[in-house]
Amino acid sequence: MKKVYVAMSADLIHPGHLNIINEARKYGEVIIGLLTDQAISSYKRLPFLSYEQRKIIVENIRGVFQVIPQETLDYVPNLKKIRPDFVVHGDDWRTGVQREIREMVINTLKEWKGQLIEPKYTPGISSTKLNNGLREIGTTPGIRLKKLRRLLESKELVRILEAHNGLTGLIVENIQIKKNNVLKEFDGMWLSSLTDSTAKGKPDIGCVDLTSRMNTLNDILEITTKPIIYDGDSGGLPEHFVFMVRSLEREGISAVIIEDKVGLKKNSLFGIDAEQTQDSIENFSRKITQGKKAQVTDDFMIIARIESLILKAGLEDALKRAKAYITAGADGIMIHSKEKAPDEILEFCEEYKKFDYRGPLIVVPSTYNQITETKLVKAGVRIVIYANQLLRSAYPAMVKTAETILENERAMECEEMCMPIREILTLIPGAK
Ligand code: SPV
Ligand code: MG
Repeated sequence: MKKVYVAMSADLIHPGHLNIINEARKYGEVIIGLLTDQAISSYKRLPFLSYEQRKIIVENIRGVFQVIPQETLDYVPNLKKIRPDFVVHGDDWRTGVQREIREMVINTLKEWKGQLIEPKYTPGISSTKLNNGLREIGTTPGIRLKKLRRLLESKELVRILEAHNGLTGLIVENIQIKKNNVLKEFDGMWLSSLTDSTAKGKPDIGCVDLTSRMNTLNDILEITTKPIIYDGDSGGLPEHFVFMVRSLEREGISAVIIEDKVGLKKNSLFGIDAEQTQDSIENFSRKITQGKKAQVTDDFMIIARIESLILKAGLEDALKRAKAYITAGADGIMIHSKEKAPDEILEFCEEYKKFDYRGPLIVVPSTYNQITETKLVKAGVRIVIYANQLLRSAYPAMVKTAETILENERAMECEEMCMPIREILTLIPGAK
């Protein structure tokens, strides 16, 4: 029996896939190279179904002999292992992003006189169209909640951007760029206490209560599908924190980050200019443990945020706390700094790497913003949070518009700073 190799993601199976498999069967035994979550997320959005779910579906399609993982976009490692007589792929990859991959397949097959078969691409249906359709339908709390853990399993670095209302939620959900043939987008949202409070015209001192924060969350949940990390400030008293955990988990929030401070909350970026007191290790550990006990699923994450560098308590203190909080049950650590250079953060990362047991490491490079994502990956950071940039860029633009109208006693001069009226009318689908 000849061997036929077909690679696919198979997230949303449609007649196009079945057509390819049917064609492939004519040449021999069909081996499907099923792209892993990691391979898929290297060039586009994480699939809706997990690898295991996709595998079960594909294994049960008539004509499929075997399903094996394809761990990179590149076919070559699998081809060399299997040495198939044929590779089958729709003819749509002759142009566009997959052209180079196709060339490599042809060249590799030559080594053992293998052949590439390219059936005509099935028009009218595509995974991209189905994906967009699904996005319109939305998500469920359970699916959304699990997404952060899935992203951590399949991506080197999870990229999060702040959202503070429905509109900014839509920006994080939808904005994409294409760079080097890779679609780049944000993986999820940060519900910042700073920007949520500021957008409501209130200081970031915990006076916007959980109910009000939940309203913001609700606006965002209604129109987005990406995972959300919630800024829980200190989490309050342990007796109160358990209710926060339950409320967030029920809504499908993936994680809460709580900081090890007590007393009246002040924003960390004030550093020692504001009166801020760090919690004792014992108290904060107890809060973490109680929170972990309160959650219903295994998926929800409680992340401990360490303020030692902010409060000038030093690296040793930060590391001691990280160990204690992980032991108390924290699913990950966020280390914060307000220095202009990333040095102290990188020192922490270096030491954190040496821990036998450690959860994902999270950083918020607001002040040391020159650090690149590549450098963060090297340091072992797993989640980067861009915590306030949408609000900080919107505010000066709005102030300028207000001043321009006052200056000119009419709106004409600010028009060029504004998006056209016809565009704002249709910005949100369903307006007409
Ligand atoms: C937030 O965005 O509210 C944060 C990060 O907690 S920071 O403002 O840097 O403290
Ligand atoms: Mg905050």
